[in-house]
Amino acid sequence: MAYFTWDESYSLNIDKIDRQHKKLFEVISDFYNTLRSHDEKAYIALLDSLIEYAVQHFEDEEALLAKYNYPDTKEHLEEHHKFQEKVLYIKERIDHGGLVIPTEITGYLKDWLSKHINGSDKKYAKYLHEQGFEVE
Ligand SMILES: [Fe+2]
Repeated sequence: MAYFTWDESYSLNIDKIDRQHKKLFEVISDFYNTLRSHDEKAYIALLDSLIEYAVQHFEDEEALLAKYNYPDTKEHLEEHHKFQEKVLYIKERIDHGGLVIPTEITGYLKDWLSKHINGSDKKYAKYLHEQGFEVE
């Protein structure tokens, strides 16, 4: 079973973003599995792709917020930055041979993403739909 599974309760009704969220859930699950396998090369590679994918996703989301002049953009971006900082910190720790506790790391990623989607992302999605957001 996947560690972290996307379901309809996470849907923003914004196809592109929902697809990206699903992918992030998958990458976090894969990361969890490789951390547990203690295959260092594999989990470092996955962490790199998680960072790369998250950055791309945040950029797409931020472009959408800018396009619709979302009033709480600043707060939203701050949450993204905090996440990026934390993930980079995890990477640094791993790169320097620090103690790796799989459940601590993936627990953080999982908690952050579900809270962020259910809180801040749903808030901007509601706003976008009120502004007449159309599928792009
Ligand atoms: Fe977001």
